[in-house]
Amino acid sequence: MPIEVRNLTHTYMQGTISEVTAIFDINFRIDDGEFIGLIGATGSGKSTLIQHLNGLLKPSSGTVLVDGVDIWSKGVSLKKVRQKIGLVFQYPEQQVFEETVYDDIAFGPKNLGYSQKEVEGQVEEACELVGLDRELLSRSPFELSGGQVRRVAIAGILAIKPKVLILDEPTAGLDPRGRREILDNIKNLHETGISVILVSHNMDDVARLCERIMVLDKGKLVADGPAREVFSQGRFLESIDLKPPDVTVLMEKLRDRGWAVRNDVLTVEEACAEIVKELQRRGVAGAI
Ligand SMILES: Nc1ncnc2c1ncn2[C@@H]1O[C@H](COP(=O)(O)OP(=O)(O)O)[C@@H](O)[C@H]1O
Ligand SMILES: [Mg+2]
Repeated sequence: MPIEVRNLTHTYMQGTISEVTAIFDINFRIDDGEFIGLIGATGSGKSTLIQHLNGLLKPSSGTVLVDGVDIWSKGVSLKKVRQKIGLVFQYPEQQVFEETVYDDIAFGPKNLGYSQKEVEGQVEEACELVGLDRELLSRSPFELSGGQVRRVAIAGILAIKPKVLILDEPTAGLDPRGRREILDNIKNLHETGISVILVSHNMDDVARLCERIMVLDKGKLVADGPAREVFSQGRFLESIDLKPPDVTVLMEKLRDRGWAVRNDVLTVEEACAEIVKELQRRGVAGAI
């Protein structure tokens, strides 16, 4: 189910003195099964852009095509689009409002008219996918930890069986353990075949997980390519107020000192391997 964005521009409060053009003339295509990291400084337009992908915002100009069809053309059901392209908002705990975790996860499929039995099955499956303990289903969402509430929110979207999952800063405000758990979860979900778009300003997270990186700066798409390519441009990222991944920064520092290490590593494991290789080349491998 490809998504194509053509010449997309969004202006908030058009025609008023407070008018803001949040995204400007954006073009890209997302194919089935991709795992995309959408990065950019605060205010660069990430949240605005993703809300266009499932028709929560209407373009000021340009088009969004899902499966080749303009989602704002006559006769298209936006409800169906939103079922296929699930969006988990930033700080979803602010939107938890049902009495029990079960009701919260079941809200989407119930709303789409599934039978009670189907809803139960979908809630069950969604819990399994996000590793949520069944015992929590009868609890109030307000009793859960930050990480658990995020899982409930993700499960609520998975329960409607989307083909594309978009997550807006899913780890914001979580402790390192909660963050790692959510990210591992998202990685597993992608491995089930679903396309994932992960919005984040944490470069280490997206570098470790995503295959393709899209970079927004002041509403414009300024880079879109394989993670290795995008993250090897550390100075460019810094110039648009993004902090490159720690491992990339380390490699850059070593290169400045004359070390022959690659500048396109993405994980700690890759960085270690590069350092060991260079130490061996320098004949100090015995020290390791
Ligand atoms: N509902 C809104 N009304 C007016 N301006 C908005 C609204 N939402 C976002 N903006 C503005 O649009 C720009 C992009 O915001 P946003 O898409 O939230 O960026 P990001 O998610 O990258 O932080 C910012 O200048 C922001 O102030
Ligand atoms: Mg945002």
